[in-house]
Amino acid sequence: MLKEKTALITGAYGGIGLETARLFRANGACVVGIDTEHEDGLDQEIHFYKMDLCSTKDCEAVYRRIQKKYPNIDILVNCAGVTRDALTKNMTERQWDECIDVNLKGAWNITRLVGPAMQKQKSGSIINISSVVGVYGNIGQSNYAATKAGMIGMTKSWAKEFAFRGGNVRVNAIAPGYTRTNMLKSVPQDLLDQFAGQTMLGRLAEPIEIAFVALFLASDMSSYVTGSVIQADGGMRL
Ligand SMILES: NC(=O)c1ccc[n+]([C@@H]2O[C@H](COP(=O)([O-])OP(=O)(O)OC[C@H]3O[C@@H](n4cnc5c(N)ncnc54)[C@H](O)[C@@H]3O)[C@@H](O)[C@H]2O)c1
Repeated sequence: MLKEKTALITGAYGGIGLETARLFRANGACVVGIDTEHEDGLDQEIHFYKMDLCSTKDCEAVYRRIQKKYPNIDILVNCAGVTRDALTKNMTERQWDECIDVNLKGAWNITRLVGPAMQKQKSGSIINISSVVGVYGNIGQSNYAATKAGMIGMTKSWAKEFAFRGGNVRVNAIAPGYTRTNMLKSVPQDLLDQFAGQTMLGRLAEPIEIAFVALFLASDMSSYVTGSVIQADGGMRL
């Protein structure tokens, strides 16, 4: 489905990112992964580059190296993300800044380089991993909710910007529900059960179920879909 396509995935060493990278690879794509937690090199047929997305300089320098080896990026998945949870009255400036820096500025840092290149080649698909928390909000996650709602705003803006003058770049977001990855490791079981109970399917998502939505958005099967947000949340009711 993604034969002869090159995909760049951020947060590619995390739960949803790695599952997406493997699925894209299994569907014929050449996959480049970015993560702070993986050294440069090939792993599971994914070409990893160590990059801190928060740093505009680091992003530019590593992207230049990526571009030399992979001059045409066809798919960008902005998947890197962190949580820094606290009630608003207790939230520190550091918790606020770190969340904004990775989730919002990090996505902007890489898209400002890849988006215009896609526009020049007159094709591309950008997929932003937002969250149901950006749609509904959540107690103790005002910083995270702001970044994930912000990603939806960036999705709609980039969909207009990169399609301008025949740019032909599609930009969409996925808003996953609670998904079994390391991100939920510190969440108590009774709260996870409560989250599962808020869905029509009565369970949390597996990372592969989010990766399948990303595959649809990356492929030509979604050739007329842009500026959209797909909620993959098991029918969350709030
Ligand atoms: N797990 C969930 O319940 C859930 C739900 C909705 C949305 N999401 C979103 O899905 C995305 C993936 O989350 P996940 O659940 O796989 O979490 P995860 O913690 O398993 O993966 C996140 C990855 O991002 C990387 N990363 C963090 N900061 C980085 C930086 N500055 N530069 C480069 N890489 C960095 C981490 O090293 C990690 O590998 C995130 O954007 C998250 O907000 C997750």
